[in-house]
This record gives sequence, C-alpha cells and structure tokens, in this order.
Amino acid sequence: MVVITPKSNFLLSTTLHNDLILRAANGEITERIPVWLMRQAGRILPEYRTTRSKAKNFVEFVKTPELAAEATIQPVDILNVDAAIIFSDILVIPEAMGLPYKMEESKGPVFEKYIQSESDIKQLIVAEHEQFYYVPEAIKLTKKNLNNRVPLIGFSGAPWTLFAYMTEGGGSKTFSKAKKWLYARPDLSHQLLQKITDSIINYLKAQITAGANLIQLFDSWAGVLNEQLYQTFCIPYLKQICNAVTEVPIIIFAKDGHFAIQDLAQLNCRVIGLDWSIIPRNAIQLRNNKTLQGNADPCLLYADNKNIEQETIKMLNTFKDIPYIANLGHGLYPDIDKEKVRYFVEVIKTYKRK
Ligand code: CP3
Repeated sequence: MVVITPKSNFLLSTTLHNDLILRAANGEITERIPVWLMRQAGRILPEYRTTRSKAKNFVEFVKTPELAAEATIQPVDILNVDAAIIFSDILVIPEAMGLPYKMEESKGPVFEKYIQSESDIKQLIVAEHEQFYYVPEAIKLTKKNLNNRVPLIGFSGAPWTLFAYMTEGGGSKTFSKAKKWLYARPDLSHQLLQKITDSIINYLKAQITAGANLIQLFDSWAGVLNEQLYQTFCIPYLKQICNAVTEVPIIIFAKDGHFAIQDLAQLNCRVIGLDWSIIPRNAIQLRNNKTLQGNADPCLLYADNKNIEQETIKMLNTFKDIPYIANLGHGLYPDIDKEKVRYFVEVIKTYKRK
C-alpha cells in the first residue's frame, strides 16, 4: 500500500486500499493487471441515466458536485473497475475561458460562439479556480464518498483537442476549420494554444489539490494531424503541462496518434494510452520505460463472451511483461451491454501474469 501525499496539500494524505493503478503508472509490474475504462461513467449504466435525470441538462449535471460524485462512483460499484474517473467533461475549460456550450442529444457539443478572429482570442481569459471551482468540489466529495477504495483519476482535454472544439464551434469529422488556423495563422494558433495550456495547468493543479491521484490528458483529435503538425502544435504544450504538473502521474492518450508515440515517450509523463489501431510491439519498443495503457477495440464488447475472453487474453499476453494498465482503445459506446463490460473486467482481473 502506498501513502499518497499530494505535495500541494499534505492534509489530504490517504492510504488507498487498492493502489494497483498508481503502482503500475509508476512503473511497477503489478501482481495483478489493473483495469479502468474510458467513459465508464455514462450511458451504458441505467443508474447513470437516473442520476442525469435529476439535472436540468448536461452542463448543470457537470456543475452539481453531488450528482457528479454519484455518477463517478457508480462504475466502481457496478463494473468493479480499479479506479474512478471524475464525472465531468473536457469542455469545462473552453467554458471557463469564455465559451459556453450546450450538449445536444443527437449532435453532441455546440458552442454559442467560437473563435473566429484575433480579437476573439484576445477576449478569452486564462481560467482560474473561480471559473471551474465545481470540479475540485466534486473531486473532494467523491474522495470522501469513495473512502479510499480506489484511486480517483482527474482529467483534461489536451491543448490541441480543446483548440479544435474552440475554433470549430462543435464536433466535426475533419476539424478543417481548426486545422485552417494551424496552416493559415500559426502565430495566432500558438497564442491560443498557450492560453489553453495555462488554463489546463491551473485546472489540473486544482484537481490534484482537491485529491485527484492521477491525471489523464485526452488528445481525442490527435488523429486529424500528422507527425510534423503534432510536433509543432502539440508536443511543446504537452511538455509544458508535464513539466508543471509533477505531483501525480500523468497518462497521455492521443487517439489515432500512431505518429506521435515516440515523441510522447520523451515527455515527463508516466503512462501512454494506446488506441486499438496501434501495433502493440511498436509501442512496446518506443515506450522509453513508460507504462502503457489500452487498447481493446470497444466494439469487441459486442461479441460473445468466448470471443471477448480470447481477444482480451491475447491483449494481456502482449503487454504482460511491461508495466501496464488494461483499458479500451477509446470510450465505451452507449449501446454496449453492461454485462459484457463486467465480463471484460472480470477476465482481466482473473488473469495470471505468470
Ligand atoms: O467515465 C468517464 O469517462 C468520465 C466522464 C467523461 C465524459 N466526457 C462524460 C460525458 C469524460 C472523461 C469525457 C471526456 C470527453 N468529452 C472527451 C474525451 C474522450 C473521448 O471520447 O475522446 C471528449 C472528446 C468530450 C467531448 C464530448 N462530451 C462529446 C463529443 C460528447 C458528445 C458525444 C457523446 O459521447 O455523447 C460529450 C458528452 C458526454 N460527456 C457524455 C458523457 C457521459 C454523454 C452526454 C449525456 O449524458 O447526455
């Protein structure tokens, strides 16, 4: 068992009953492979829908610490995962910087206004505690209610992914409006990325002070870039974050960022998250002593149990000799049967490394 002492708040020292994920993140080959799932708190659980119905809308849900804490703990109870991830959204930061959003049932996120000019960038603020206080509040309450059963993961969108939503105004297949900025106005793109990065650092520090034991950065739209764009517009900002936030281990998940793994492995992060398109032996070769996390295709969970077991064991066999956290290669889809998810978790938890 490890004593967790966030440097910024010694009063929060706690002893976790299950610290497998933290030890794996810190480079240990743990006696059992730990598992959590991206989007584990959410629509696959009927319990989540009940909690969500108590709020007027998604944004209000995220801003109500009691409801966020309830949704955070549900998958620990129901799916038996080895960590909780705070129920929130990556869009908290654009909102805190001055761009409010709505979550539309069939469309996803929609921003009332988005970044279209230099003066729009100038008007954005660097987010501080008072703009996102409700997330640290939710973390404190979750920690109290979790009672040290498992670690709590805090998170943020990575600078590029937040930039993408802020310049596109919502979701997109190509993010061509966002990429236009990189090619047409690299100078202003850097200005915006720096403001976002400063906001993220404030946000992550507040999450850690409130009790987050680990941080994941979601670079969900890495895959629309290429190696050169990633090196120019992503790596320098991820580097700033990893060098500023050193109190707890950081996981970086760059979805479809096969071209970025080698560069990510040089950063001051502890874990690299892999999507299902990554060839495991390549990531193992490039990992530079980092722990790896991933990478089952969420659609595997539409298969029958026999198939799920076979494919999951194949994945575990591939990663068993290195520090490793089992997960999916992206978030759970809403129509995945929660019994299949429970089965996937059980296969991982009963697997013997030796
Ligand atoms: O269990 C968890 O993972 C914790 C909660 C969490 C949510 N969003 C809740 C949510 C986390 C970690 C996120 C991260 C997030 N949000 C990402 C990165 C991960 C990824 O999927 O790549 C991104 C890109 C977003 C932005 C976002 N939020 C979109 C595009 C959407 C709409 C599409 C969708 O999946 O529904 C959301 C909505 C959202 N965020 C929901 C949940 C549970 C569903 C909304 C609802 O309940 O009505």
